[in-house]
Amino acid sequence: MEAIFLAGGFGTRLKPLTYTRAKPLLPILNKPMILYLIDSLPSEVDRVILAVNYKKEQIEKCFSKYDCGREIIINEEPEPLGTGGAVKFAEKYLGDRFFVLNSDIISSINLQDMIRFHERNKATATISLWPVDNVSEFGVAEVGEDGRITGFVEKPKPEDAPSNLINAGAYLLESEVLDYIETGRLVSMEKEIFPQIISNTGRFYGYKFEGYWIDIGRIKSYLYVNQFLLKEKGLDKIIGEDSNVKGDIVNSILGRNVNVGRNTVIKSSVIFDNVSIDDNVTIENSVIGENCRIKENVYINNAVIGDNETIMDGYEIIDTTIWTQPIPEGYPKKQIGNVIGE
Ligand code: GDD
Ligand code: MG
Repeated sequence: MEAIFLAGGFGTRLKPLTYTRAKPLLPILNKPMILYLIDSLPSEVDRVILAVNYKKEQIEKCFSKYDCGREIIINEEPEPLGTGGAVKFAEKYLGDRFFVLNSDIISSINLQDMIRFHERNKATATISLWPVDNVSEFGVAEVGEDGRITGFVEKPKPEDAPSNLINAGAYLLESEVLDYIETGRLVSMEKEIFPQIISNTGRFYGYKFEGYWIDIGRIKSYLYVNQFLLKEKGLDKIIGEDSNVKGDIVNSILGRNVNVGRNTVIKSSVIFDNVSIDDNVTIENSVIGENCRIKENVYINNAVIGDNETIMDGYEIIDTTIWTQPIPEGYPKKQIGNVIGE
């Protein structure tokens, strides 16, 4: 069977890291997130379709270097077609039943168990559900005792939310769902298609699971997921190959070819590849992009440094985002100036 990863979108809330890379390529424990997700698919999935648009070439390059043991199809939309339109656009690659997966979620979901749940219920569509407090950032389901979903609202006001169970971003669909999606236009799966499945088939089910569910929508959750998975593995740090560390690394992940000087402390942070950090530096709760140079006596806390930046001696960078290069052409929401606060 197939799995489609919805992997388009600019990931604007993860800028400046997404000025220079597609969101699915952000490293999770030093591995591009999309590879992490593909490796956790059940064995039933033998074909993976990546529904992409922004920075497609980077995604192609990533797969040209990595064999995941499954057929990979990179399907570029001519323009973003939305979560439903992207699935329709992949129709020719799809069989009778397939997964649709958001590519910005890391969770403990057992997709094999979800298939069994779907089969037991003879469902037309099954979506994963997860309980949260802040429902208004998500799609919210109204669920009956038998697991049947009877209503769905995308990003409701808290008072209009039918429950605290949100769409956790993994769908298992029968191919008849494709008939509800119009070709060649922007279609939202959540707003336009889910309500039709409910009213036309009555066989829309919600699959709840235990463990963890982390939405990598923002820098804060991106840092959190890395630390969470590090802990899950019983590790305090990961240091990539060809790195040379003289300082202290605590609860952090360092990419390849990272140099860390004496008396430097890196805590609860993620450092990308090819970064050089001099002596007497402190970095906490921060992300440092590729090819950065951090000079002596710098203090960085709760900050994001975009790729290719140099931070000069003695600077204090707290609660902010550094990006001093032009914003890439076509990237949404233009910023004025070159240092962007969050
Ligand atoms: N190919 C393609 N084309 N992918 C897209 C497009 C598009 O036009 N638009 C969005 N995506 C991808 C995103 O990259 C992401 O993986 C997924 O579709 C969902 O889009 P987001 O933009 O991340 O949506 P969201 O986080 O606001 O809400 C969605 O996810 C929540 C769970 O995190 C909805 O599905 C909610 O209902 C859900 O609760
Ligand atoms: Mg999202």
